[in-house]
Amino acid sequence: MKKMLLSFAVVIAAFIGIVGYRLNSSVDISKGSTLVYDTEESKGDDKENTDEASSDNPGDASLGENPEDTVLEEAAVNLDEEKAEDAEITQTPKKRNTISVNTDPNSIGVLVNRDYLIDKDYVPGDLVVPNVRFSYYGVYEKSFMREIAAYWLERLFKAAERDGMILEAVSAYRSYETQISVHNGHVDNLGRDEAENVSAEAGTSEHETGLCIDISCQTLGDSLEESFGVYEEGIWVAQNAYKYGYVIRYPYDKEAVTGYDYEPWHIRYVGKRLALRLHKKNWCLEEYYQNTLIKNEVDVTKDEEKFAKLKEDGLVSFETTIPASAAPVV
Ligand code: DAL
Ligand code: ZN
Repeated sequence: MKKMLLSFAVVIAAFIGIVGYRLNSSVDISKGSTLVYDTEESKGDDKENTDEASSDNPGDASLGENPEDTVLEEAAVNLDEEKAEDAEITQTPKKRNTISVNTDPNSIGVLVNRDYLIDKDYVPGDLVVPNVRFSYYGVYEKSFMREIAAYWLERLFKAAERDGMILEAVSAYRSYETQISVHNGHVDNLGRDEAENVSAEAGTSEHETGLCIDISCQTLGDSLEESFGVYEEGIWVAQNAYKYGYVIRYPYDKEAVTGYDYEPWHIRYVGKRLALRLHKKNWCLEEYYQNTLIKNEVDVTKDEEKFAKLKEDGLVSFETTIPASAAPVV
């Protein structure tokens, strides 16, 4: 009997030893040169979480009582689940060996910067003028944005207004040629070195995607300057833009990563899922791609598909009657 008990104890001890070894080794076995946190792999598909409606997001994307808004409410991420995920993420460092980046200019997740250029001939196929307050009269090339970005900008501006913040649109889409002259203007005014910190060369500017816009407010005389970040309108934008799929693309603490000075006025549409992720992780877009395997990328196509469905259902309309290419460039 003693002998049997002893053998049983040995088997149990061996079992515990094997399991323990496997658990420990699973942290160290992956190869690669860059240490990153295991953002998705251990948690399964991110879609599971992004589809949860959030009750923590009362002002999320509502524009009046329109039923179309409830459709996209689904895109809100469950913040509690994300919190739990974050705890898990910080405990599970992993290594990987590739950095993948979305370079499709038609994707709302596209990365455009000095390293990832946009084709000089690229012109977005769905440029429209958002129905928001502008800092000028008339319709110019800079009034246009891609439809999905314009749709969500309208909702962002409305939500700001509901909270007593009157925002104004200043400058959105620019063609490659326009970006050449905008950049040259900065070089003339500031000298080349300083200009490189505040203005992108043609082919490297997000303005060429139709997915971003410079905004300001009347209280600041509609000017594009750093102080927008401490005005109550700028603070509101920093705190709420992600709920409408927008992020501040050049945050003040990310100058070394983005390569540009802080621009609290330059907001970029990336979709609600990705915007929430960047907001929660305090990542700029470059950091997102540095820290996320492409196969586990937050599903930007889901935001695109939901918008396509809204269009299909006839719930999206813009009043512009001239194409961006026919509008004057000022
Ligand atoms: N100001 C930003 C970097 C641009 O020129 O696109
Ligand atoms: Zn800008």
